[in-house]
Amino acid sequence: MEKIVNLCKRRGFVFQSSEIYGGLSSCYDYGPLGIELKRNVKEAWWRDTISSRGDVVGLDCSILMHPRTWEASGHIANFSDPMVDCKLCKGRFRADHLAETRCPKQPSKLAGHCDGELTEPRSFNLMFKTHMGPMEDSAAAVYLRPETAQGIFVNFVNVVNSTRLRPPFGIGQIGKSFRNEITPANFLFRTREFEQMELEFFVPPGSDDGWYEYWKNRRLQWYTDYGIRPERLRLRNHESDELAHYAKGCADVEYDFPIGWQELEGIANRTDFDLKQHIAYSGKDLSYFNDQTKERFVPYVIEPSAGADRGTLAFLIDSYDEDGPENDRRTVLRLHPSLAPVKVAILPLMKRDGLDAKAMEIVEALRPYFAVSYDQAGSIGRRYRRQDEVGTPLGVTVDYDTMKDGTVTLRDRDTMEQVRVPIDDLFDIVRKKVAPPVYRGPLAPAA
Ligand code: GAP
Repeated sequence: MEKIVNLCKRRGFVFQSSEIYGGLSSCYDYGPLGIELKRNVKEAWWRDTISSRGDVVGLDCSILMHPRTWEASGHIANFSDPMVDCKLCKGRFRADHLAETRCPKQPSKLAGHCDGELTEPRSFNLMFKTHMGPMEDSAAAVYLRPETAQGIFVNFVNVVNSTRLRPPFGIGQIGKSFRNEITPANFLFRTREFEQMELEFFVPPGSDDGWYEYWKNRRLQWYTDYGIRPERLRLRNHESDELAHYAKGCADVEYDFPIGWQELEGIANRTDFDLKQHIAYSGKDLSYFNDQTKERFVPYVIEPSAGADRGTLAFLIDSYDEDGPENDRRTVLRLHPSLAPVKVAILPLMKRDGLDAKAMEIVEALRPYFAVSYDQAGSIGRRYRRQDEVGTPLGVTVDYDTMKDGTVTLRDRDTMEQVRVPIDDLFDIVRKKVAPPVYRGPLAPAA
């Protein structure tokens, strides 16, 4: 993890938030390369979960919602973690995370092992509370949403009425969520402000088991399609005593992070709990009437819920590699080319004799279509290494032969193979190389 954190800072993927003021714990800023990578992760999710399917649409809801939303969803009553305080070091810890939390004053010891006495566990609500308008009284209290899902549930009827979609269909959303985590930790893994990529898939009751299995498999495959090593991924079904009160089934896609196997994404069968709660609290009818079968029902919901930041971290960790002989090691991010922040680097062998101008011509020709980088500083070997380290899949070198025959050297990040290609072929070569994987598997459970 330390290598990833260092690379992220050095190469402009991720910075500590408000660093010049000493940083704000567990808050991070994405730098120029990091934002491109995260945008590509989100784009891959949006494309595969929403726009490439005919049965899912997108939504972008506001972060602040009517406070009754959180009463209905159960977040005000139940969205809490058990917390303990250490009377000696004054640390505050999650009671269920003591075995993996270090004492802030004596990091060689685990929380609670600094000879301090721990208080009894108390319940700590994780929602961030703020006030809307000029009055700071309880009537004006609102919450920063702790999940994007509820914005989808409260818009279920709006979407049904404004589209021709009928269950089974889904609504997806990507957006910020906020949780006042007691022990945020491990870089982007657990933060207090993060982005979620959530799909709520509404199905007729009775078909929920099949759709639940379908989405579990589909979501697991999504990660391997984008290059995550299958041996570092697993699907873990929750035991019945782990299930949330509303869930009929839940499974985590887990990744073998440097901190051990941890949740990357949760897939839950939320039954009709959320819609029924919003019916009860809003007094509005959120049921669906099928005018062909003349049946009225409250749909069940299958929810694959992924973290954009946690996903980005997993793609970074999984793609990180070091290879080459001891005296000539290189660091390389073997990112799937469609996720790579920069797609192709254009490198003039020399910054003179017209090679630089020719290279800039190629940059200008490709830049409207791809994320292109131009680098003329240092030896060509060092420039390749700089690109490998940030995962650029292709390097193009402009040399003296280019000026004679219009060809360039094309270098592949992973194999380091170099071939000669005409400049005129570059557009097609890059387009093919960085194309996202196309999913051709089933779009629904087998009947
Ligand atoms: N709507 C269901 C829901 O929010 P969750 O398991 O609490 O379920 C879903 O969150 C995903 O959101 C997690 O699998 C994780 O990827 C991401 N996530 C949750 N809390 C997070 C945090 N504090 N920091 C970063 N990502 C988080």
